[in-house]
Amino acid sequence: MKHKVNFIRTLFFAFVLVFLACDATKPSTAKDPETEAKIDNLLMQMTLEEKIGQMNQLSFWGINDDVKEAVRSGSIGSLLNIIDPKQGNTLQKIAMEESRLGIPLIYGRDVIHGFKTMFPIPLGQAATFNPETIREGAAVAAAEARSAGIHWTFAPMLDISRDGRWGRIAESMGEDPYLTGVMGAAMVRGFQGENLANSTSIAACVKHFFGYGAAEAGKDYNSTNIPPALMRNVYLQGYKAAIEAGAATVMTAFNDNDGVPASGNRFLLCNILRDEWKFDGFVVSDWASIPEMINHGFAANAKEAALRAANAGVDMDMMGMAYPQQLAKLVKEGKVSQTVIDDAVRNILRIKFRMGLFDNPYTDTSAPSVFYAESHLATAKKTAEESVVLLKNANQTLPFTDKVKTLALIGPLADAPHDQMGTWTFDGDKNKTITPLAALQTAYGNNVKVLYEKGLAYSRDLSTAAFAKALQTAHQADVVVAVVGEEAIMSGEAHSLADISLKGAQKALIQELKKAGKPLVMVVMAGRPLTIGDELEAADAVLYAFHPGTMGGPAIADLLFGKAVPSGKLPVTFPKEVGQIPVYYNHNSSGRPANKTETLLYDIPLEASQTSLGNTGYHLDAGFDPLFPFGFGLSYTTFEYSNIRLSDTKIKTFGSIDVTAQLKNTGNYDATEVVQLYVRDITGSIARPVRELKSFKRVVLKAGESQDVTFTLASDDLAFWGIDLKRIVEPGAFKLWVGGNSDATLEADFEIVE
Ligand code: NOJ
Repeated sequence: MKHKVNFIRTLFFAFVLVFLACDATKPSTAKDPETEAKIDNLLMQMTLEEKIGQMNQLSFWGINDDVKEAVRSGSIGSLLNIIDPKQGNTLQKIAMEESRLGIPLIYGRDVIHGFKTMFPIPLGQAATFNPETIREGAAVAAAEARSAGIHWTFAPMLDISRDGRWGRIAESMGEDPYLTGVMGAAMVRGFQGENLANSTSIAACVKHFFGYGAAEAGKDYNSTNIPPALMRNVYLQGYKAAIEAGAATVMTAFNDNDGVPASGNRFLLCNILRDEWKFDGFVVSDWASIPEMINHGFAANAKEAALRAANAGVDMDMMGMAYPQQLAKLVKEGKVSQTVIDDAVRNILRIKFRMGLFDNPYTDTSAPSVFYAESHLATAKKTAEESVVLLKNANQTLPFTDKVKTLALIGPLADAPHDQMGTWTFDGDKNKTITPLAALQTAYGNNVKVLYEKGLAYSRDLSTAAFAKALQTAHQADVVVAVVGEEAIMSGEAHSLADISLKGAQKALIQELKKAGKPLVMVVMAGRPLTIGDELEAADAVLYAFHPGTMGGPAIADLLFGKAVPSGKLPVTFPKEVGQIPVYYNHNSSGRPANKTETLLYDIPLEASQTSLGNTGYHLDAGFDPLFPFGFGLSYTTFEYSNIRLSDTKIKTFGSIDVTAQLKNTGNYDATEVVQLYVRDITGSIARPVRELKSFKRVVLKAGESQDVTFTLASDDLAFWGIDLKRIVEPGAFKLWVGGNSDATLEADFEIVE
């Protein structure tokens, strides 16, 4: 009897182990047989300890005997945060020449929006709606980082973010899955270049897989509860697009979704990532996210955490120590199979081969520095210019004309070189930042007298002691530019807020400056959408610059004086009140949507009867709309949309149509407009969003010029994951809109027919 039980147990474990290996035998399009043979050859020679070493990533802690010995013995496969190429070469030489099998290390670093030359934060980059700009910026970041010996960045972050409270919205591409996918793919192409083995390429890492941006209450690391269809239709789209663009690696997220932490989510890592998407790079955990599954209550101890992560398909443990300390035991006990280990190592070695690290493991430390090269600064300036969004421009306050002789520059962010760079700027040097003050003085100082007064020492400063001086300065000028917002530390990882209005006494500062009676331009530098309704009313014009990086100052100065014309569009909906969150344009319709004529709080008569307001969905106090819709952004010129035409009003299930609209520049400035195409599937087998962005184009028009803008809309663009979690194109009626933001009104109807 005992034997029988043992036999059944053995059979069960054999079944579980075979079942647990992700299906690595499925062909990936990119696998090179020669490389695979080299990997197999290495695997045959590697001990279990050496294999587990490849799966271990540690943060660099200085050159000492410990680290040298760890590299020599093959117990580390990767280091993060080593940024001195000489130190990198020292350890790499040990890996290549003194470790038994000469396997190179791969060095990772958070190069999120630039290495030395800082670009706008990713949310700002998304506001450019210009994938080519994003690609160029990532290529600059890659060239600078690779010259410092960095092989691999932990970007792009493609977590859909519908919540401005979440500090990491700064690092995201905003709320829209299509925009996130287009921009994420462009960033991957920029980092990785034509070939990962180029001396100016670095490997990308798509993160955080998956759903991290849906953290409850916008509190970092919090649980998410994303149901399966929403996961497919919204949350996975961006990651998938970036993986299709060839991203070499993927990072698991910190959050649990519906109770399953991402680093233990086998369905996600095996079924979706490997089996469906055919991803053949490697998966790294987030920092210590494997042992943190103990805190989640998903693993009892480090051993169980390692077991769950390895069997789920996490190839490399970032700073968790769970793999180096637990995996060998688990393999010996038969709980983690050799196949699981071999697959993980195979994935890691594949990327090391693709990066050419076996042939070119070292960094040329004698090459001239490329940091802050002229061309890099020019690209950063162009990106910053395109990323700034004009939210208001009453009476054509902007651009300033030559009548402006004296400009009062006020505010805590007007000359804040560190804060202007935003979150994730480990390597950017604030001494290289050009602030609005410096830029205005240098580029416009000959013609315009710039009077500078801070008003507040920093964005959280509560003291109004310097207000009188600021107001006096405003009185002396023709125009007032107030640069307010958030310090870099107020957004980014673990920096969430419950209230996203301007902090410190900044709101009061704007009201104070208003008293001068001069045209008041508010420039906001921030890491998130802020609730700035009152300040928007007080100011005559508002430019919103998501932390714009090293060249933010020159970009803003040129925008103020019309040397550049704003073209940025909001990648997130701006709420009026924090209580509107989550607020995003591509929501579903309720059964009782508001007509927008309903009574608001202060208009309700006393003792009004229970149902007299009508029963529809809106906030009595905040009304119906957000402060600004997704895709919104003004220009110094005006654009008119007209004459929408469809090549056909019916799309066959495998067909497409052309959608054309006329765009006219009706103002006085040559400018760029981001033309956006939105669609609504009127009736579906599951309720579909009221609008979804399907395409966009940046169109450059001279003043007075018009152009036909055409989009091709294919039936596949209208597919979605339905109730049975299959991707389908459903016949039926649709509506589309073409315009300059998600509230576009120029519309047409079409159908999908079988
Ligand atoms: C934790 C963050 O969540 C992740 O985005 C980052 O890449 C790693 N730490 C490495 O620094």
